[in-house]
Amino acid sequence: TATKPLSGKTALVTAGPTYEPIDPVRFLGNYSSGRQGYAIAEELHDAGAQVTLISGPVSLLPPQNIRLISVQTAQEMLDACLSNIPVDIAVMTAAVADWRVKNISNKKIKKTGDAQTPTFDLITNPDILATIAQKNINRPKLVIGFAAETNDLLDNADAKRKRKNCDWIVVNDVSPDTKIMGGVENEVTILSSSDKQHFKRADKREIGRLLTKEIIKFFNH
Ligand code: C5P
Repeated sequence: TATKPLSGKTALVTAGPTYEPIDPVRFLGNYSSGRQGYAIAEELHDAGAQVTLISGPVSLLPPQNIRLISVQTAQEMLDACLSNIPVDIAVMTAAVADWRVKNISNKKIKKTGDAQTPTFDLITNPDILATIAQKNINRPKLVIGFAAETNDLLDNADAKRKRKNCDWIVVNDVSPDTKIMGGVENEVTILSSSDKQHFKRADKREIGRLLTKEIIKFFNH
């Protein structure tokens, strides 16, 4: 069999939302479908990489021949990432919940009366991308983050790239009228420290293919 462009390379991909429990039946979450991350994992696999996909709760079929680790919370996703490095490539597409509830109730929270509503203290979740990208040892050679923005896309994304120490950041516009978050298409710009490349609106699988092409170029340089 002919060797593929990413043969011998390992990759870690995070995808989907995280669910942060409130009580046994409720959670804090977001509308991420996991589609973009799954598509990238599949494209990297097709290009010959050995892929580990770490996924929050999604309704997608597990991709064939890819090691899938299913998690629920941000903390579980971070732990799974840390136990699956070193890798050559890390692509962090997951829409990790920024906060979790401080005191998770072990019983279902009851309505007490119309006038009374519960309040929740939140704590900030760990930043998985920043944790991986800022490592001194075992930092992947190429760390790619995503930036879902609704305004000042490129400026916000570039600040994010620097702050989190990732090599590239893939920017997308998640304003509700774009129907990107939770949808089947995406339109992205890839930002590095020296370069900016726009890919026109396309199916998330096609976006995965284009990003994989850029990853292949990076390793061929
Ligand atoms: O800061 P923001 O959430 O916009 O950053 C988005 C990027 O950071 C994505 O690549 C996402 O997967 C990653 N991220 C993460 N852990 C978090 C928050 C974001 O890995 N707690």
